[in-house]
Amino acid sequence: MGDMILEIRHLSKSFGSHEVLRDIDFCVEKGDVTSIIGASGSGKSTLLRCVNLLETPTSGEVLFHGKNVADRSVNTAEYRSHVGMVFQSFNLFNNMTVLENCMVGQIKVLKKSKGIARENAMRYLSQVGMAPYINAKPRQISGGQKQRVAIARALAMEPEVLLFDEPTSALDPEMVGEVLSVMQDLAQGGMTMLVVTHEMAFARDVSNHVVYMNQGIICEEGTPAEVFGNPQKQETKDFLSRFRKN
Ligand SMILES: Nc1ncnc2c1ncn2[C@@H]1O[C@H](COP(=O)(O)OP(=O)(O)OP(=O)(O)O)[C@@H](O)[C@H]1O
Ligand SMILES: [Mg+2]
Repeated sequence: MGDMILEIRHLSKSFGSHEVLRDIDFCVEKGDVTSIIGASGSGKSTLLRCVNLLETPTSGEVLFHGKNVADRSVNTAEYRSHVGMVFQSFNLFNNMTVLENCMVGQIKVLKKSKGIARENAMRYLSQVGMAPYINAKPRQISGGQKQRVAIARALAMEPEVLLFDEPTSALDPEMVGEVLSVMQDLAQGGMTMLVVTHEMAFARDVSNHVVYMNQGIICEEGTPAEVFGNPQKQETKDFLSRFRKN
């Protein structure tokens, strides 16, 4: 059996009286590429933010290698260094160069030397095709390039799992492909990934596990063949048919 990295158990999240996530259960094993799909407002981002503890779950557990990291005694910063995150809006440091963006976390959080941090940063920037831009500032590069730098920055922390929240939604259409192709390469290289996405082709063709969320619950989950090829729930069928029309 696979090596279990994350187990989400009975996770719920409310903002005031608004229950946004209800009794969410799923697992991520090493090498899994899990896509989370669902309509706007269904709780996908909140779920991802609960997984890396940017939000505190109201109840339930987030087990990382069997240990509940939602427990108050856990060092959140240490946990987060194992769980990379790539945001829709890149969140690069605009006053730093591309290279510095990929070094700072390694130096500050992982306590790497400048030399080692630079070496790692260069390796991951090359991997995403951004080595020629190391001295550029974020404002000098395109959205697709920024997102590739954000991916390299996350990789430079050598996380065990990478979380992506709609990494291509803020991009001009012509730049979506270059980011998806980097993500596909990572998946093929065995990276464990949890990806919130509206890119149904990515969910269908690249992931091995698809989670369909509707109104704060997991409505249906399974392999891409199951969820896309033979959806069981009417809500899933309706969601997928809305997408096919667009
Ligand atoms: N910090 C917050 N305070 C109050 N309500 C919130 C907060 N964050 C999210 N919500 C609410 O939780 C619900 C789910 O939001 P969430 O952003 O998780 O949805 P989503 O599935 O990611 O949507 P989208 O596809 O538009 O990104 C929404 O009704 C939203 O208004
Ligand atoms: Mg969202």
